[in-house]
Amino acid sequence: MSKKKILITGGAGFIGSHTAVALINAGYQPVIVDNFSNAEPSVLEAIEKITGTSVKCYNLDCCDAKNLNLLLQKEGSFDGVIHFAAFKAVGESVQEPIKYYKNNLSSLWEILELMDKSNTTKIVFSSSCTVYGQPDSLPVTEASPIKEAESPYAYTKQVGEQILTDRVKNGGMQGILLRYFNPIGAHPSSLIGELPQGIPNNLMPFITQTAKGIRKELSIFGDDYDTPDGTCIRDYIHVMDLAEAHVKALQYMEDNPETAIDHFNIGTGNGYSVLECLNAFERANNVKVPYQIAPKRAGDITQIWADTEKANRLLDWKASRTLEEAMRDAWNWEQKLSQ
Ligand code: UFG
Repeated sequence: MSKKKILITGGAGFIGSHTAVALINAGYQPVIVDNFSNAEPSVLEAIEKITGTSVKCYNLDCCDAKNLNLLLQKEGSFDGVIHFAAFKAVGESVQEPIKYYKNNLSSLWEILELMDKSNTTKIVFSSSCTVYGQPDSLPVTEASPIKEAESPYAYTKQVGEQILTDRVKNGGMQGILLRYFNPIGAHPSSLIGELPQGIPNNLMPFITQTAKGIRKELSIFGDDYDTPDGTCIRDYIHVMDLAEAHVKALQYMEDNPETAIDHFNIGTGNGYSVLECLNAFERANNVKVPYQIAPKRAGDITQIWADTEKANRLLDWKASRTLEEAMRDAWNWEQKLSQ
């Protein structure tokens, strides 16, 4: 039987590349589309090294309808789409909102049009825990209210969820919205990992680059939040656990054709503060990371972590890797990078 062909937009990126590996491990055939705005072509070779399988990749922008039509002519229908392609930095989105609205929303509707034209009926959408805004109670469940978005990035995810929900309700399509918590770590081979361009926006690559001496010190954004140590709390999940959730989401749609749309929190269920995270990194790797306390960053949520019972029960998925493992994998990956 031929393998099921899955289009991964943004498939050369951090989560996308790990998901390509998870898909190949599960017997799928991923086809990557990426414009390499935040990824390196060398990722493709690395995926092949890890899996022994070469992956087809189209270098194109998902906002570009003309090029997507060429993709359609070459590839025809897919058995599913996993749509990652998007800008993803909360702080940057506050500075450059139009860039975020334009890119994150137009790529989604172009992909939905491509799906309609090619009779592709299943999509997994990269959503985010930021859709919950500042939650009233923790942990957040999928039934927690969608509150005011704290950043344009978060709003693109709220609107993206709505666009997809409306399209699915129109029939002929199934969609799973995965609300990611904070992905960290790297593949244990250290062949793929997070590759931020320029100064990292996210905590983990900033920590690893500071440990390596590329950055002088980590700035911790705010230490007077209403949390036990004053720093923000997040649910940090190993990127391979997150990647495997996408495979489970596809399988869920295959096994439950009556499911039109559903949402799942993809986290570990544990919240750690920025300081706890930093300490865990130092302990796991026996390295010191200099830091200073800096002003709060606009758009940040004070604290959030996931209730993952629904994903455990319905997707038969549970994060299995520890924070320590993620910290070690992130550091091993950083050390292998050339600069
Ligand atoms: N932080 C610092 N210093 C830094 C970077 C981050 O103190 O240099 C703090 C932030 O203020 C925040 C925490 O570390 O409290 C985590 O920040 P990240 O930027 O790593 O992650 P976010 O929670 O802002 O958002 C991330 C991704 C989003 C994703 C979200 C949850 O950037 O794309 O997780 O899914 F949506």
